[in-house]
Amino acid sequence: MSLSLRRLFRKEKQERRILRQIERSGDRLQPEYHRATPECPHPERWHMFDSMTAEAEVLEFLRTIVTTIKPELVVETGTFSGISTLWIAEGLKANGRGRVITCEFDYEIYENARARIQASGLAQWIELRNESSLDMKVDGTIDLFFSDSDMPIREQEIRRFLPQMNPFGLILMHDASSHLKIVREAALKLEQDGLISAVLLPTPRGLVVAQKREGRK
Ligand SMILES: C[S@@+](CC[C@H](N)C(=O)[O-])C[C@H]1O[C@@H](n2cnc3c(N)ncnc32)[C@H](O)[C@@H]1O
Repeated sequence: MSLSLRRLFRKEKQERRILRQIERSGDRLQPEYHRATPECPHPERWHMFDSMTAEAEVLEFLRTIVTTIKPELVVETGTFSGISTLWIAEGLKANGRGRVITCEFDYEIYENARARIQASGLAQWIELRNESSLDMKVDGTIDLFFSDSDMPIREQEIRRFLPQMNPFGLILMHDASSHLKIVREAALKLEQDGLISAVLLPTPRGLVVAQKREGRK
């Protein structure tokens, strides 16, 4: 088995293991345990449901961003169990408009998210797709883009969807801590290339809030 296939297999196993854990014990809020970083020395002050789902405070932030900028179209990459999608959908419901398109490329994980979304009462705001973010085609202008899939492909994702980004909209890149590195470096590279302006929020796993440079007035 090649190194990249082995890495992918290990990662899928980890995600499915966490899903099984959620099935056993439900969504349980606990202190965040991502390691301390210079920008976030006290991660235990944050909360999380599990190590895949965005921190609880980031989920609140997502909903608030949605109610603040009132997007027509939100795109999320990496659905996992669907929790972040539901927080985005809560914001859309509060706004009374808009929709979120979210993609999950692992079929078993997608099916699990589908069941959660169906049971949530928020399905009307959500379009869940079983496909890769690198193949996904979306029509129209994206007002809010939440990049939360596989870390090594985030730069590719942003480059792929950038032409469709509303220059007044927002790009969020999760897992951008200085420890996880790869997403942080991707954001800084995109900034150096003059494509985005980025702010690095000091959360446990790191969150980039960015905006496309082209067309900004
Ligand atoms: C960090 S989890 C997403 C967590 C979720 N956004 C939340 O906060 O509730 C990443 C998910 O992205 C999926 N994934 C990885 N690469 C992908 C790709 N290229 N396209 C779609 N999904 C992908 C993984 O299977 C995994 O379920």
